[in-house]
Formats: sequence, structure tokens, C-alpha cells
Amino acid sequence: MPSSETSRSPISFPAGFVWGTGTASYQIEGAVDEDGRGPSIWDTFSHQKGATHNGDTGDVACDHYHRVETDLELLGQLGVGSYRFSVAWPRVQPTGKGPVNQPGIDFYRRLVDGLRDRGIAPAVTLYHWDLPQPLEDAGGWTVRDTAERYAEYAWMVAGALGGDVALWTTLNEPWCSAWQGYGVGTQAPGRTDIDEAVAATHHLLLAHGLGVEAIRAAAGSVQVGITLNLTPVRPATDHPDDLAAARRVDGNQNRIFTEPIFRGRYPEDMFGHYPDLAPGGPLVQDGDLEQIRVPIDFLGVNFYFPKRAGAAGRPEAAASPELYLPWPNDPVAEHLGAVSVARGDVAQTTMGWEVEPGALTELLVGLRDQYGSVPVYVSENGAAFPDYVDQTGAVRDHDRIDYLDGHIRAVGAALAAGVDVRGYYVWSLLDNFEWAHGYKQRFGLVFVDYATQERLPKASFDWYRDIVAANGLPEEPV
Ligand code: FCB
Repeated sequence: MPSSETSRSPISFPAGFVWGTGTASYQIEGAVDEDGRGPSIWDTFSHQKGATHNGDTGDVACDHYHRVETDLELLGQLGVGSYRFSVAWPRVQPTGKGPVNQPGIDFYRRLVDGLRDRGIAPAVTLYHWDLPQPLEDAGGWTVRDTAERYAEYAWMVAGALGGDVALWTTLNEPWCSAWQGYGVGTQAPGRTDIDEAVAATHHLLLAHGLGVEAIRAAAGSVQVGITLNLTPVRPATDHPDDLAAARRVDGNQNRIFTEPIFRGRYPEDMFGHYPDLAPGGPLVQDGDLEQIRVPIDFLGVNFYFPKRAGAAGRPEAAASPELYLPWPNDPVAEHLGAVSVARGDVAQTTMGWEVEPGALTELLVGLRDQYGSVPVYVSENGAAFPDYVDQTGAVRDHDRIDYLDGHIRAVGAALAAGVDVRGYYVWSLLDNFEWAHGYKQRFGLVFVDYATQERLPKASFDWYRDIVAANGLPEEPV
């Protein structure tokens, strides 16, 4: 572990380092059928029985669509240099094709202007999972046409918001869209077919490549990148079977995205599992990989926790059930012959995610070592804890402060190792609709009382405001 992570010594960040926070459209906006917005796959999915915790949906969420001024004020108080939000495709182009829905664009124009008035750089994600439902009905990400539709949508939004946006991100976490959406089925659209997940992977990547060019064509020389959820995958033991299983999980989680984006090829060692990605297969057409490899200005990295994987069926696994916890009903892991491995001695968030900040340094240094010096933004990092408003009316989320402190130090360690990290965004500004976990999991710097929509900054909000102001960390987390 890097020493800076545990030493708690003060650290300062380079001048110009971007401190930010983020949200995503479906998680906060609500107003799902206002001003011409069409339905998305998340509207459909969240309304399916049993799909989300408690049957929660994003119908109202944080009602951000109507409270955008309040939320801009909060961002102003926090003092962040940048705010990362996503545009809901079905607000801008309700059916996924055809003309722009002007009220939808106007909403994001107001948001961008409100940010710029406060000196906050807008960072726009064009796709944070809310695919227009009519496109899903026509095959969703399993069909190539969706990538073409995406490029047209990207061109529209980039034309409308253009150079007023500091960072353009094509996609958020295509791994989740493809593998949780079409493979495991725990996210929209809730399909469970490995071949479909593979097809979705390729079409999302193609959408990214086409999107980068569309954004540049519409908005000129702006900063364009993609956000991936990458994570180190640790083997359960150093037994060759576990090493091989961890490598397979790494292939699925990380390399089937980074290899085409940075090297214009899919990882050969995954062809046995995903033959459709091999050259000459049914998916990858001539020119696709060149398109996917189009140069980007930055890579967004979302990091929460490292993964630990072992080989399914080893006798050790049966003997230590507390260590080897098969991913339940996970056809993707099953297909790879892998099981998830828990480490009992590590603290966890309420998502069950292990807290291990050193893994973020390892990830950032590893990316630089593998792919060279690409400017990186840590575009999401944060934690869910059982927050509550205490008798004094405060939310004293010291566990979150600790988590963020550790991870910001881990970013500092990566910078010290020469990685070109340009910024860090806390997930999230607000407690919000945490996908299949509904409103149970709170990630915000600001507590949201969903019954009243009251916003209450948590202790972590004040703590982060001071970090942003000081461009660095004090000695001890407060
Ligand atoms: C990421 C998502 C984000 C949020 C966090 C907790 O995978 O990009 O929307 O749900 O997890």
C-alpha cells in the first residue's frame, strides 16, 4: 500500500487539479413524462415487479428537474470546479430518432448556463444508461443500428451545448450497460444472454467511436473521452486455476474495453469465451476497430472497490464457503468458470463493497504502465453508508469522510508516481435512485429526505468543501 494512504499527512494537489462531484439523469431528475420526454429502458425496468428494491422507480427521484436552481446553489456552496451530469437521451430525442425535443435541450442549456455563471465547468455524459425504449424494442444495444442512432443523438446535443461543455463523455460504464443489462439481468433492460451481452459490448464501443467523431464534428475541438468502470481483479489464491480465473474476469471487466479503445483489438485470450469478438466473426465489421480506437482526450475511471475472483469448482472453495461466495445467479461469471471471493477482514460499505483505497492507486498506475500516459479523471468514487439525521439535525457521515480521504490520498499517490490524473469527482452530489437498490443506498454528500425533497448537506459536504478550497487534504480526516 502506498504510504501516503495510511500516513494521514497533509497533501496538496497540482494547480488546476479539478475537484468535482456528479449525478446521472435517471437517478435524480424525475419528471419522467414532462415536456415531451419519452420512456427509457430504466422506466420500463424499474416498473417491473421485483426488479428494484422495494419496487422503487425514478419517477420522482430527487425531483431535480424542478429543483435545478436549488441544486445549483448547493454546487455553488460546495465550491467545486466541475459538475458531471448526464443528459437523458429520451428527453432530447424521445423515441431515439427524429428531431430534437427543444424543451429537453432547453433544460440542459439552463443547467449548463447556471453552472458557468457560478464558475463550475460542466462535464456532460451523453449516455448514463437511459436508452429510449423504442430503440430497445428494436433490439437495443444488441443491434448495430443503435450505435448509429447514438451518434446522431450525440451530434445533436454537442451541436446544442457545444463549447460550453468542458468535458464530453460518450458513455458511462459500458460494462454495466452490456453485462449487467444484457448478461446478468440486474439492470435495464434485464436480459440474460451472453451472446447479447457480447453484441452489446461491441455496439456500445462502436457507438463510442462514432460518438467521438460526431461530437467533434458538431462542437469543434472540445475534450472528449469515455468513462469505464475498471478495477484490479485479485486471484483468490496463487493456485494456477485461481490465477487463470482472475485473468478471465479481468478480461471481461477491463480488457475487452481498454484493448479496443487503446489498441484497436479485442483481447485474444477472451475469444474462446466470446467467439463473436474474434476477427471474421459476425459482429466486428471492417473498420470497426479503427473507429473504436479513435484518439480520445481523456479517460474517465469510475472506481469503488477491487474484485476478487477464484476458479469455480475447486475443492478449497467448497471447504471455505465463507471465503468463496459464488456470484448468485450470475450467468456471466458462470460462463467464465469464476466465483467471487470475499475477504472477511476488510471493511465494507452498505453495498457490500470492500474498502481498499490502495487498489485505486494500483489501477491508475497499472493503466499508465499498460497504455501510456493518457490524461485521467477519476470520474466517480464514493460510498454508501447507513446515513441518518441525528437528534441535532445533522448527518455525521464520518465513515464516508474516511472512505473519501483514503481514496483521495490514493489519487495523490498515483500523481506522485507520475500518473496524469487531472481531476476527481465524488459520487454523488445527492442521495439518489441507486438503480436496482432503489433509494436504500445513500451515496450523497447531501442527504435527501424523499418525502419532502428537503436537501441537507452531510458532514462530508463541509469536509469536501474545505478540501476543494485548500486543493488538498489536511492532516487527519475530521
Ligand atoms: C456506478 C454508476 C453510478 C452509481 C454508482 C454507485 O456504477 O455509474 O450511476 O450508481 O455506481
